[in-house]
Amino acid sequence: MKIVESPHEAYAHADHWRREGLSIGLVPTMGALHAGHFSLVRRSTQECDVTAASIFVNPTQFSPEEDLSRYPRTLEDDLAGLRELGCGLVFVPQPQQVYPEGFSTYVSPPATAKPLEGRFRPDHFRGVTTVVIKLFQILPASIAYFGQKDFQQLAVIKKMVEDLNVPIRVVSCATIREEDGLALSSRNRYLSAEERERALCLSRALNQVHSLVSQGLSQVAQLEHEMHRILKPATDSIDYATIVDRETLDPMVEIDRPAVALIAAHVGKTRLIDNRLIGE
Ligand code: PAF
Repeated sequence: MKIVESPHEAYAHADHWRREGLSIGLVPTMGALHAGHFSLVRRSTQECDVTAASIFVNPTQFSPEEDLSRYPRTLEDDLAGLRELGCGLVFVPQPQQVYPEGFSTYVSPPATAKPLEGRFRPDHFRGVTTVVIKLFQILPASIAYFGQKDFQQLAVIKKMVEDLNVPIRVVSCATIREEDGLALSSRNRYLSAEERERALCLSRALNQVHSLVSQGLSQVAQLEHEMHRILKPATDSIDYATIVDRETLDPMVEIDRPAVALIAAHVGKTRLIDNRLIGE
């Protein structure tokens, strides 16, 4: 497995593979890898000739209030896991290699970036789309794999790829959960045992909405009320617990088309997100 820091070197490897006619799968990450990330890598190794991953804690997607320096970094374990899965290349740049002195060009993200996370983390998707388009240039893959756990991120990246004619297929992979339902996240390691127990209310609320919809309940206001009822006693604050159109992320009144229920809530000092597709 090649480990490269330099964008030029990473591109040279990808270019060589492409000239050899090999398909490249790309798994962009911020490290602190868990079974969710490894499922993306596994899928890429099954579907593509070679797999490249990136590990970069992207400063431009963190706001000044969010503690970038506190983000977990577990590089040695990450590399060992990727090596074991047969990853061919890992791009691990330093911040100044991605954002050199004088860097000033950013992507203006699509409308789907405005609601939900966009309301609470205003410049987050500007940073995400900018780094993702850079990664797509540095490692021009055939397919890029992202987890459905970050549902809005996926929607924003898919739209950017469509709008900017980026010749990469974006594939969404199912959220990986612990046996008790907790969605895997690098941030789960911040939770104390007591907070982890409370954090289960996110998947419980989403499951409840899913089962109510299966039973025929379709009024979004009622469903959202139910999510809040479950979340309120167990969380410290709720940023949103809502149901939106799965394509546009616009608010809905009734579940009359494919939708997604999304939650962002704080448990202790940790902000957790989760979602579930409904109304298939
Ligand atoms: O989902 C993530 O880990 C990050 O937002 C991404 C896509 C790697 C961009 O920094």
